[in-house]
Amino acid sequence: MDFITKVGSADTCKADCVAVGVYADGELTPAAQRIDARSGGAVRAAIRSGDMTGKRGSVLLLRALPGVAAPRVLLVGLGKAAELHEKAYAEAVRAAVKGAGSGTRDLALAATDWAVRGRDTRWQAQLLALAAREVVYRFDELKSKRDSTDTFPTRILLPAPDAAAQRAAALGLSEGNAIANGVDLAKRLGNLPGNVCTPRYLGEQARVLARTFKLGVEVLDERQIEKLGMGSFLSVARGSEEPPRLIVLKYQGGGKSAAPYVLVGKGITFDSGGISIKPAANMDEMKFDMCGAAAVFGTLRALAELKAKINVVGIVPACENLPSGRANKPGDIVKSMSGQTIEILNTDAEGRLILCDALTYAQRFKPAAVIDIATLTGACVVALGNVNSGLFATDEKLAEDLLRCGRAMLDPAWRLPLDDDYQDDLKSNFADMANIGSPGNAGAVIAACFLARFTKAYPWAHLDIAGTAWRRGAAKGATGRPVPLLTQFLLERAASR
Ligand code: BES
Ligand code: MN
Ligand code: ZN
Repeated sequence: MDFITKVGSADTCKADCVAVGVYADGELTPAAQRIDARSGGAVRAAIRSGDMTGKRGSVLLLRALPGVAAPRVLLVGLGKAAELHEKAYAEAVRAAVKGAGSGTRDLALAATDWAVRGRDTRWQAQLLALAAREVVYRFDELKSKRDSTDTFPTRILLPAPDAAAQRAAALGLSEGNAIANGVDLAKRLGNLPGNVCTPRYLGEQARVLARTFKLGVEVLDERQIEKLGMGSFLSVARGSEEPPRLIVLKYQGGGKSAAPYVLVGKGITFDSGGISIKPAANMDEMKFDMCGAAAVFGTLRALAELKAKINVVGIVPACENLPSGRANKPGDIVKSMSGQTIEILNTDAEGRLILCDALTYAQRFKPAAVIDIATLTGACVVALGNVNSGLFATDEKLAEDLLRCGRAMLDPAWRLPLDDDYQDDLKSNFADMANIGSPGNAGAVIAACFLARFTKAYPWAHLDIAGTAWRRGAAKGATGRPVPLLTQFLLERAASR
């Protein structure tokens, strides 16, 4: 899907379809008013007839209006003008892309005059590209017949009122499209099954990404991981025949000496729970347990495509968590790269066991900040559901910026606490700490507190995406979150230096 912007007005576009907004109170957006005037009142007539109520997300396709160059005019319901907030805007864009008519290749979308309070043209363009790309995404590469996508527009034109707006729109469209490319990469890796998307496969994909975008890449094997002293990570990996990988990707868009931002992504390519095995129901969804890793890949892809002026290192510890004669057993004690010892009371709390060593490894980059992204706890899903990712941070500015960027990109997070008092729950009689606290007791917080013990050397944030990385049920599939949040955050940091 291509995105372009031109100075001009939607009503004179020669696109296959022109989409204009209509509010629920009968008020017309400027482009809808102009279409109405040109066509001798066709828009108001459609409203009067009751066929278009302006209800948010509703559409009405009109054909061959007199005085209008485009063969189709799509009326898009925006809801009440006062309630056109960020989510309603994106919903209207998706409705327009879906409703443009199967004959439409070129769609002119008059979205710059859908005013969202507090948001500028660049934001409108960014979210337009993201929302439109969301509609056309398909994962059908493992089906013998591809699902058809040809009923959607292939090009979207965003008309801009003047040259300044056009520049802002062009910037926003390219950002939104690059972020969508990152989201699609994260979705694809997430959706691939555990027998395809193995730790080795992730390593190969890292090399492909590095080759395409000239990133630095290192893929460490079991022997090299052992040399680093990552006893905690390796203890999880050893339960499987599939060998682990430690993947390091480096994007150098900033100054040589500028401290990098480090993204650490949980890369469990399948989580059976290990000896503390999970129930059978929905266990297939544990192929998504590498969505943190996928988000790191996707974010790096977006930043590299945009040539963002910032240095970012991605670290992905990747392995499977399976039961076997070599797997961790409850009560086993392992030594992490940091030197701290861990009593493994539950082998299903494996994410923290691989992340703690990656977080120690991150120190060597002298990071400006480290953000880890992990499908870490079922408890986070209990706390926040599928709307907000869980955010934990040891740095206030980092937390605030991540929260704000998440809201802007409709990829929200909600902050949860990291008080020292929670640490008592990780006490072990036999090692420096246990890998779980008391069952049923603030599980998402305890997991974050475990990680915090390995992050003293730098400002740190942790995103628990257990509830937001994929959808269940009929729409089962990876969401690509939190690529938009992370990319927007890093674009902002790149611009603020
Ligand atoms: N990958 C899971 C977390 C998870 C579970 C994400 C369900 C999404 C849906 C993680 O490795 C895990 O199993 N965590 C345990 C921790 C517990 C043993 C302390 C959990 O949440 O049950
Ligand atoms: Mn687990
Ligand atoms: Zn897991």
